[in-house]
Amino acid sequence: METTQVTIDSYSDAKELLDRHGQGQLLDFWDKLSDTERSALLSQIETLDFPSIARMQSMLGQGDAAQAAFGAGTLPAEVMTPSEQETADAINIGESSLSEGRVGVILVAGGQGSRLGFDGPKGAFPVAPITNATLFEIHCHKILRLEEKYDTQIPFYVMTSETNNKPTHDFFAENNYFGLDPERVLFFIQGMWPTLTGEGKIILDSPHHIFMSPDGHGGTITALKNSGALDDMASRGLDTLFYFQVDNPLIEIADPAFIGLHANTGADVSVKVCAKRDAGEGLGVVAARDGHNMVIEYIDLPEEEAAATLPDGSLKFLYGSVAIHVFSLGFLKQEANAELPLHVAHKKVPYCNADGETVRPGEPNAFKFEKFIFDVLPDANTVLNLAFAREEEFSPVKNATGADSPETTQRDMIRKYSRWLEACGIEVPKDDSGTPVYKIEIDPRFAGNVQDLRSKLPQDFAVTDDVLLV
Ligand code: UTP
Repeated sequence: METTQVTIDSYSDAKELLDRHGQGQLLDFWDKLSDTERSALLSQIETLDFPSIARMQSMLGQGDAAQAAFGAGTLPAEVMTPSEQETADAINIGESSLSEGRVGVILVAGGQGSRLGFDGPKGAFPVAPITNATLFEIHCHKILRLEEKYDTQIPFYVMTSETNNKPTHDFFAENNYFGLDPERVLFFIQGMWPTLTGEGKIILDSPHHIFMSPDGHGGTITALKNSGALDDMASRGLDTLFYFQVDNPLIEIADPAFIGLHANTGADVSVKVCAKRDAGEGLGVVAARDGHNMVIEYIDLPEEEAAATLPDGSLKFLYGSVAIHVFSLGFLKQEANAELPLHVAHKKVPYCNADGETVRPGEPNAFKFEKFIFDVLPDANTVLNLAFAREEEFSPVKNATGADSPETTQRDMIRKYSRWLEACGIEVPKDDSGTPVYKIEIDPRFAGNVQDLRSKLPQDFAVTDDVLLV
């Protein structure tokens, strides 16, 4: 985390620092605090990243700095849809990288999961249709399967935040790291930032506590550097890092074809992209301008551009990014010192009133700032945007109900596994709407793809009830 690099161990140090930055209000309750509360507040003050706070203040009243994203000359980015032969060749290359132990995996799991409203780290959410296996278990079993299949070691870097680091750590430990070697599961903590009032003041949520929230998934690379994880990657001989988000159990972790195409292209960063469902879908689209690749967020894409079509009727800006990436280690190192743009949102944030009571406002009262991982794209010399089939690889748990909820994710898991069974020549009973009648779950350790499944299914296998293959 970027810090002020100062040690604060007294009231006078803190007062001098805060007055210099116009944040003296953080000490308003000092006289009423116990010794423990005072030292907790001083420790928080010590972590404040004043250079970033100054950038945030300069954005107040001006909107999102990244909103200038759609400028003249912005065109859809080139997207690769590989031929069967290209995919087959890439798989060989990707498999060699895996076998040679050059691939690591980065999972970002530092978010707050506020839309899902689950009490605990989102990765501990039970999602599998029959066993209720959690997101973390599913991800770990996928890595384990790759380690077994390629007789290799795949270091797993898990980003948490101050808020969920201990519960995440504990969850892995209680579950025996889901079979992974703990020596290869490395947690690193992302930075936390304060929120600001419209006047640029940092907000206390109790007399001795500053309200802080994670600095966004764009904080990943700085956190990798500051935690020593980038050096760890180099010392383990890695050169390729697969990156994904915690909430998507359909993810094809370190998919050899993706790794191979990334290598073949000589890309700094690769992006899996899928076709938007319609012009209004809230997915950031991949674009390019003046030789630089980028992702333009949904809100930044002018309506007429979002709706524009090509002569064949398809959307001009068709492809969206769902934050599945491959990075070259050299590029991560380069970006560790990059200053990513800040994105701002107006949020409801608990605050401490003049009587020292915590108030939960009904309306947005504060500005929250985040960095986004896709903002590294313009810095890359070469970017591969690779088209993939959404139904095979992406169905996130974002909301408690409705779209992108546990219900839709389980449905999509069952559909995916039913397609695998059908590809193996097994008949899957379906209702009139085409939905499988029975629940189907395949543990990633049992089979990681159709070929695996085919080699393991008993001769006389038939679907006559719920199917659990573990
Ligand atoms: P989301 O944007 O879906 O945010 O994160 P979220 O925090 O999980 O959920 P809401 O918005 O509060 O409902 C996408 C991915 O990025 C990670 C999340 O853990 C998730 O895997 N993330 C997000 C971080 O690791 N750190 C952050 O600061 C934000």
